[in-house]
Amino acid sequence: MEKIVSLCKRRGFIFQASEIYGGLNGVWDYGPLGTELKNNLKQYWWKVIVRDRDDVVGLDGSILTHPAVLKASGHVDTFTDPMVDCRTCKARLRADQLAEKNGAKQCPNCGGKDLTEARPFNLMFQTQVGASADPASIAYLRPETAQSIFVQFKNVLDVSRKKLPFGIAQIGKAFRNEINPRNFTFRSREFEQMELEYFCRPEQGMDLLAYWLKERIRFYEEIGINRKRLHILDVPDKDRAFYSKGTFDIEYEFPFGRQELEGVAYRTDYDLRQHIKASGKPLDYFDEETKERFVPHVVEPSAGVDRTVLALICDAYDEDSAPDEKGKMETRIVMRFHPRMAPIKCAVFPLLKNKEALVAKAREVQALLRPHMNVFYDEGGAIGRRYRRQDEIGTPFGVTIDFETLGEKGEELRNTVTLRDRDSMKQERVPMKDLVEIISSKIR
Ligand code: GAP
Repeated sequence: MEKIVSLCKRRGFIFQASEIYGGLNGVWDYGPLGTELKNNLKQYWWKVIVRDRDDVVGLDGSILTHPAVLKASGHVDTFTDPMVDCRTCKARLRADQLAEKNGAKQCPNCGGKDLTEARPFNLMFQTQVGASADPASIAYLRPETAQSIFVQFKNVLDVSRKKLPFGIAQIGKAFRNEINPRNFTFRSREFEQMELEYFCRPEQGMDLLAYWLKERIRFYEEIGINRKRLHILDVPDKDRAFYSKGTFDIEYEFPFGRQELEGVAYRTDYDLRQHIKASGKPLDYFDEETKERFVPHVVEPSAGVDRTVLALICDAYDEDSAPDEKGKMETRIVMRFHPRMAPIKCAVFPLLKNKEALVAKAREVQALLRPHMNVFYDEGGAIGRRYRRQDEIGTPFGVTIDFETLGEKGEELRNTVTLRDRDSMKQERVPMKDLVEIISSKIR
């Protein structure tokens, strides 16, 4: 894991937030490459879940949330983790994550066993809206994106005129004051979720749970995650929320262990009913054909953006060997991102930077590709070094402009370039005019 964390900082994927002031625990900033990677992931999720389907529409709800929403959802009263204090070193710890020694729970910081009784700690961040500090001004930073979907169910239904089954999708920030943020970005205090609430008739719930689990596994395969490192946990009755009739966790084998990426849960009609009860507003559905009025059930695939980005990074990291400038084999770090997810799709290199005609042609190739993909121009240093820099950030394609491109080695090679594949390191000569189609077909 240290190698991955160090690469993330060195190459600008992820930085600690507020780093120059000592950092803010459990909060992260994404650098230039991390931002591209994250955007590629979110855009692909949105394409697959919303744009490619007729039965899902989007929502972008607010982060600041009325306390009544979270009171009705149960978060105000029960969204807690058990917390203990170590009396020796004063650390605050999550009681359910403590290792035991000789039958007694132990502080991971100092090894002490003098711990307080566990007590519930609410994970929500509370804030105040407006200038007055009275209890009526309390609001929360949302702990999940889902609640605004439930609260806006009727508005979205009215404007979209969808018939069941249909879904409302949302990508956005969520906040949890985790007692122990850890494992790099895995457990953060500020993170993003990609959530779908798929509403249905009660009798469709179990089938749709199985359907969405399959769809979501396919998604992870399509973004390049190795299927062998994905696991499905059928959450047992005792660990499921009382209102859920079935929940699957999709887990990934991180270097620090097998951990949850996404939960796919059949939440029945619990959330809508809670909001109907608390608000007194009708959040039900009228079936025109059967003339029935009822509260829809919901199946919820809920994924973490940051956890999936971390899985993409861990899954892509590889080391192999490649020849250096003198032909001697050296270790190569290569991020084998699926071209769809790679932050930069293609790097363009003039063979030499001091040959004006090569540089001009390389700029022409860059301009040709730019409207279609994220492209990077690099003329600095030996060509092998330039390839290596791109391998380390996972750029799947490299285009080199050489003297053949200029027609100096025969007219038939004019306006052809070498296209290098990151994984095989093989190069093929292709006409410049075919580049857009060749690369675009692999990154869509
Ligand atoms: N609406 C359901 C819900 O929020 P959850 O299992 O609490 O369910 C869903 O969260 C997903 O959000 C998790 O599978 C995980 O990917 C992500 N997530 C939750 N807490 C997180 C945290 N502290 N840091 C990063 N991601 C988190």
